[in-house]
Amino acid sequence: MAELSLKTWLRNRNIHNVVADTRESLRAIGFVRTCGVIRSRLEDFVFDARYGTDTTQINMLEELELDDESRRHGQRYQPTGAYSFRNIMRRLAPPPGSVFVDYGSGKGRVLMMAALHPFARVVGIEFSTELCDIARRNVDEFRSQEANAAPIDIVDTDVRKYDYRHDETVFYFFHPFDEAILRATLDGIRESLEARPRRASLVYYLPKHRALVEREAFFQLRETFTIGGYDCMIFDHTPRR
Ligand SMILES: C[S@@+](CC[C@H](N)C(=O)[O-])C[C@H]1O[C@@H](n2cnc3c(N)ncnc32)[C@H](O)[C@@H]1O
Repeated sequence: MAELSLKTWLRNRNIHNVVADTRESLRAIGFVRTCGVIRSRLEDFVFDARYGTDTTQINMLEELELDDESRRHGQRYQPTGAYSFRNIMRRLAPPPGSVFVDYGSGKGRVLMMAALHPFARVVGIEFSTELCDIARRNVDEFRSQEANAAPIDIVDTDVRKYDYRHDETVFYFFHPFDEAILRATLDGIRESLEARPRRASLVYYLPKHRALVEREAFFQLRETFTIGGYDCMIFDHTPRR
């Protein structure tokens, strides 16, 4: 009984997940990188406490109402660390008026943090309706304190069905899905950039399928760095004259 209540207490405070995750992280990426992840995690709790949002807890796709095909190709919900995203944005330095898209936006942490930059608009694409509902509640809480943040659209769909407006210029991926879906998504981005040529950047954080993006002739690698325990790659696209 005592063990049960301790487990419940830990789970309610998300500590249960953090402990399990740290163990997995130590095994997978070693001590130094895990320290980076822990530092990043601390800022996550600060973000949620400040805005009254719910972005930190990880959700496995099995917990969400999704079909088997979606679960097979997709990755679980795990937010980009707030510390990591601040650093990524500093390096990316997008020009004012850019349009940001997060592929697999989950509970919307990245959308809210991006909206604090001078983007014309911020778009999140997420195929779990439950996560989209949480993200919309989070954005409402966030906006009550950040009235001047950029507009945020949450599109409840599979990334393969996203309808491009051809003004999107920053494409953000935090290891959201497998190679097959990434390939289809890159095809969609390429078609959009061909339909309306424009400068653009692609950020790939935790780039498990990096070779696929590296092979894309329309994106040139700007830099690779490590932040929050994971590699991050920034690519740029410049239209041909
Ligand atoms: C690792 S999380 C990243 C969350 C968010 N981008 C961030 O960085 O904080 C991956 C997210 O992608 C979503 N996802 C996976 N496959 C997808 C697909 N085909 N279409 C839309 N969303 C997808 C998952 O539901 C999950 O919320």
